[in-house]
Amino acid sequence: MSIQNDPILDLRDYLGFLVNAGYTEVVIPKSEHEEKMTSSSRRELEAIRVELGDCRRCPLSNGRKNIVFGEGSPDATLMFIGEGPGADEDREGRPFVGRAGQLLNRMINAMGLERSDVYIANVVKCRPPSNRDPEPNEIGMCFPFLKAQINSISPEVIVGLGRIAVGSLLGRKVSLTKIRGTFYHVDGIPIMPTYHPSFLLRKEPDRRWKAEAWEDLKKVMSLLGLPFDGRGESR
Ligand code: URA
Repeated sequence: MSIQNDPILDLRDYLGFLVNAGYTEVVIPKSEHEEKMTSSSRRELEAIRVELGDCRRCPLSNGRKNIVFGEGSPDATLMFIGEGPGADEDREGRPFVGRAGQLLNRMINAMGLERSDVYIANVVKCRPPSNRDPEPNEIGMCFPFLKAQINSISPEVIVGLGRIAVGSLLGRKVSLTKIRGTFYHVDGIPIMPTYHPSFLLRKEPDRRWKAEAWEDLKKVMSLLGLPFDGRGESR
C-alpha cells in the first residue's frame, strides 16, 4: 500500500484538519446493527413498562406517589441495581435522584462514564413506607419485571448495590461484607456486589468503606475494559 493511500494517515490528516478548524469532538454514528439493537431493547423496555401498568400487585402500591421503573441506556453494558425508591425517587419517579443518587453519579463518573451510559433500576419499584426493607412477597411480585429489564438490556455486568439488591439477584440472604468484591454469575451475567451508596453516606467520614467500594468498581472497569486513570481514588 502506498503512503498516499494509507487510510490511517488519511484519517490522521483529516483529524488534524478538524482540530485546526476548531472541532473538539467527533461523533461516530452508530452502525445499522447497533441502531437495531438499541431500538429493539428500547421497545422491549417500553413493553415491560406497559405490562407493569398502574401496578397494584403488592401493598407497596398503597403508599407510593410514583412507580420508579428505572432509566438509562437501553443498550448499557453496565447496570446498577438498588433496593427500592426513597422519598425523592418516589416524588420524581426516577431512581437514585436523592443524596444516595448524587453519590452514585460520582461513582459512575469516577469510572469514566456518564449516568446516561448505564442503566439504573431497583429491586422494588414502589417506595417501602418509612424506607423499611421490602418484604419477600413484595420483592417476589416485582422481581420478574427487573428480570425482564435485565434480559432486554443484556448488560455485560451488573453492580448490585447493597444487601437487598444482591440477595434478590442471587436468590439468597447475603452478608455484603463477606461477599463484596467478587463476581457472582446469574444466568451468565457477572454480578459485582458492593455497598449501597446510602450505607457509604452513613459511614462518612470513615473512608474505609468507600475505598472498598472503589476496589469493587475497579474490578468492574477492568472487566469492561474501561481505562483506569486513578481519579476515583479521591472521591
Ligand atoms: N436507594 C435505592 O436503593 N434506590 C433508589 O432509587 C434510591 C435510593
